[in-house]
Amino acid sequence: MAELHERIYEIALKRAIFVPSNEIYAPTAGFYDYGPVGAAIRRKIIAEWRRVFITNEGNHEVETALILPEIVLKASGHVGHFSDPLVECGKCKKQFRADHLIEAKGKLGTQTMKIEEMGKVIEELKITCPDCGGKLSEAKPFNLMFKTNIGAAEGNPAYARPETAQGIFLIFPRIFRYAGSKLPLGIAQIGKSFRNEISPRQGLIRLREFSQMELEYFFDPEKGKLEKFGKLKGVKVRLYLREAQAEGTEKLLETTAGEALAKGILPNEIFAYYLALTQLFYESMGIPFESLRFRQMREDEMPHYSKANFDIEVRLSYGWQETVGIAYRTDFDLRSHAEMSKKDLSVFLEIEKKKLIPHVIEPSFGLERLFWSILEASYRKEKEREWDWLALPTKIAPYAVAVLPLMKKDGIAEKGQELAEKLRKRGLDVLYDESGSIGKRYARADEIGIPYCVTIDYDTLKLETATVRFRDDGKQERIETGELARYLEKAVEENRTKL
Ligand code: GLY
Repeated sequence: MAELHERIYEIALKRAIFVPSNEIYAPTAGFYDYGPVGAAIRRKIIAEWRRVFITNEGNHEVETALILPEIVLKASGHVGHFSDPLVECGKCKKQFRADHLIEAKGKLGTQTMKIEEMGKVIEELKITCPDCGGKLSEAKPFNLMFKTNIGAAEGNPAYARPETAQGIFLIFPRIFRYAGSKLPLGIAQIGKSFRNEISPRQGLIRLREFSQMELEYFFDPEKGKLEKFGKLKGVKVRLYLREAQAEGTEKLLETTAGEALAKGILPNEIFAYYLALTQLFYESMGIPFESLRFRQMREDEMPHYSKANFDIEVRLSYGWQETVGIAYRTDFDLRSHAEMSKKDLSVFLEIEKKKLIPHVIEPSFGLERLFWSILEASYRKEKEREWDWLALPTKIAPYAVAVLPLMKKDGIAEKGQELAEKLRKRGLDVLYDESGSIGKRYARADEIGIPYCVTIDYDTLKLETATVRFRDDGKQERIETGELARYLEKAVEENRTKL
């Protein structure tokens, strides 16, 4: 079999789950479009994240502007610091990330290397253009933001936002007042962000236009406690600590969120709570415990705003891949925006009679990386079945059920359509499919991860029963059609993230 990611990519294209944007022209690397199946899965991942990280938590959701004036991103540090080291081939003019080329030669430590040093290392290691072997240029910083200008008159530079977080900091004073002028306060945003990556590869893993699900949890730094942490302190996690990374080993510390906090590995209860919640959320998405680890960022690679950083990494066919960052951003952003805007962004807490700039813990999810991780984790192939399939959790499957009339004649198709209609009216996502052999239709349904197929036959006309086939074991069961909606609703519900 081809590599796992190649096979999933094939399924994605065949079933139009996602496809390269502008495909009929030369597709532009780093941009993907979702077809109906991908859009449905994506929507459901978002709905589940919203339920777990926003509504269940009593946090607030905002939607802020995608284009930000330069001054905002100067304050946030993105204009000055948000760059990657770029080299260009003198012959074919292709551009590459200098650090990636160096790491591909097995030399680590690029995070701490100055950009001039990278140029020297490239020479020392005799690294040439990976595509044509041509000589590479000096490394120079390349800012990752997409630049534009607001309005017709020049001189109003702006950028497509590189993270959804900044919009949350800008709207914070209003939401603080709206939500009763109290801390802690969680404000979340789900939406697109943009990074002009130098040479994006690896499908959905590195994109130029991507989606984030971010929560900024504002709190009084003297009160990093969270009562509800008690519920999650026993959640098991695996930590890949700095010491193990420095030793060059893959040694993981298997512990609980509570123990990691008690040992001082995690900075406070809020951080530990959201780390544990992320673990539960990931497992409920079908990504197994053994494929997950939280990597503690090394001192030298921490973003400019962060005091503590753990990335949840997933073991993919590409290797371990960061998919979520949990950062302790302190008061960096509010303080910087206060300085730049000359507005007072401190808050006054009425009960405590205290003025302060809140600190922030940020869980930041890359939606497409999660989406891809789910696809890899759910991929199944067994000898006994001629086709492969996606064992997607029911709550994020594109359709809860496929309704398949065994044949089109004698009113069986009409009966199937009637049932599909009834289930849709109950709010369930239903695929009605009457074309091709029943085997082919099972294969199609399995391949896009539909957990149940309901076959309509002569008995359905007489007895109002139908055969349900289960995607993961292929077993079948007879069920009353009147019970089906409740049955499916229960299956979706049972599958949700449990706290
Ligand atoms: N907000 C964190 C990030 O986008 O990386």
